[in-house]
Amino acid sequence: MTQTITVVPGDGIGPEVTDATLEVLAAAGADLEYDMQLGGVTALEQVKHPLPQETIDSAERNRILLKGPLTTPSGSGFRSINVELRKLFDLYANVRPVRTIMPGGRYEDIDLVLIRENTEGLYVGVEHYIGMHGDPKAAAESVMIITRFGAERISRYAFEYARANGRKKVTLAHKANILKYTQGLFLDVAHEVAKDFPEIAWEDRIIDATAMQLVLDPYRFDVLVMENMFGDILSDLMAGLVGGLGFAPAGNIGKDAAMFEAVHGSAPDIAGKGIANPTGLLSSACLMLDHLDQDAVADRIRTAVDTVVRAGEARTVDMGGSASTKEYTAALVKALV
Ligand code: NAI
Ligand code: MG
Repeated sequence: MTQTITVVPGDGIGPEVTDATLEVLAAAGADLEYDMQLGGVTALEQVKHPLPQETIDSAERNRILLKGPLTTPSGSGFRSINVELRKLFDLYANVRPVRTIMPGGRYEDIDLVLIRENTEGLYVGVEHYIGMHGDPKAAAESVMIITRFGAERISRYAFEYARANGRKKVTLAHKANILKYTQGLFLDVAHEVAKDFPEIAWEDRIIDATAMQLVLDPYRFDVLVMENMFGDILSDLMAGLVGGLGFAPAGNIGKDAAMFEAVHGSAPDIAGKGIANPTGLLSSACLMLDHLDQDAVADRIRTAVDTVVRAGEARTVDMGGSASTKEYTAALVKALV
């Protein structure tokens, strides 16, 4: 049966990279139907709500989302719709693979996967000011929450991912030396879970040392798992190892729903110019196809991306070329075999 997915093109360059992605999906023969929905500032402008009920209803029906970037105002304004969607569907595992597509960067043949806990840690938003001596903002406090349940399911997800994808090693990056309770609990739980996966090598490392080692010698890693904020930071570092945000995909996976999106944002500086690189969202769509057991279609698309980017004739501006989004997309469609 053809899978219907909810598609939210989103803001800024979102509609441009979404068009490109859907064009390649169609040409590659993906067996999908699309339920197009609004989200973000675009939705706020058109229907006066950044996350319309219709979009939520569609996502609830289809349980699979392909989402473009959504602009989030800093400081004041509405809270992140991305975070809201992850919470609404309990999308606890944020899977962020990075691999070298464009040669000639700092490293060749990078192939790493970061698995970030997506629902706990400092990002739960338990925050407040503490007033003292007439200053209402004399201090501020944010609470880091780690639960045994959350640490256990993300650790297990990382090991199961490693097993299912033929990966050899899982590294837990943590700060249990300083944050003895929260990070200590995460470390203890991960140690227990590791016992169920004897065939997979396992290590734990302090987060700051992990950051340095990733830059010095990324080849010593394979699958990395960590709590929410550490994962946020290191996933951008890892995107940097393969040439930046333009190539980085993400899957947000829950027990009975999943949302796929590029790591980059709405890029207001280039929106509407027709020069955005759609590879991030397209690679996220490939993760979605893997998830839907259409991996053969995903592999065809990944091969076409490799071919076009390596040939170098139709690279977008961020890759150092001069091709428009449409020219790059046409080259991808032509390269599909
Ligand atoms: P950004 O990722 O939108 O842009 C950073 C830089 O990278 C810009 O110079 C942009 O032109 C470039 N860039 C990003 N994606 C590109 C692409 N596909 N092709 C070519 N160049 C690309 O990050 P920024 O500027 O910090 O955020 C802009 C807005 O996006 C903010 O409102 C932010 O909250 C939102 N955002 C949304 C995300 C999401 O929906 N998942 C993730 C990150 C940011
Ligand atoms: Mg981030």
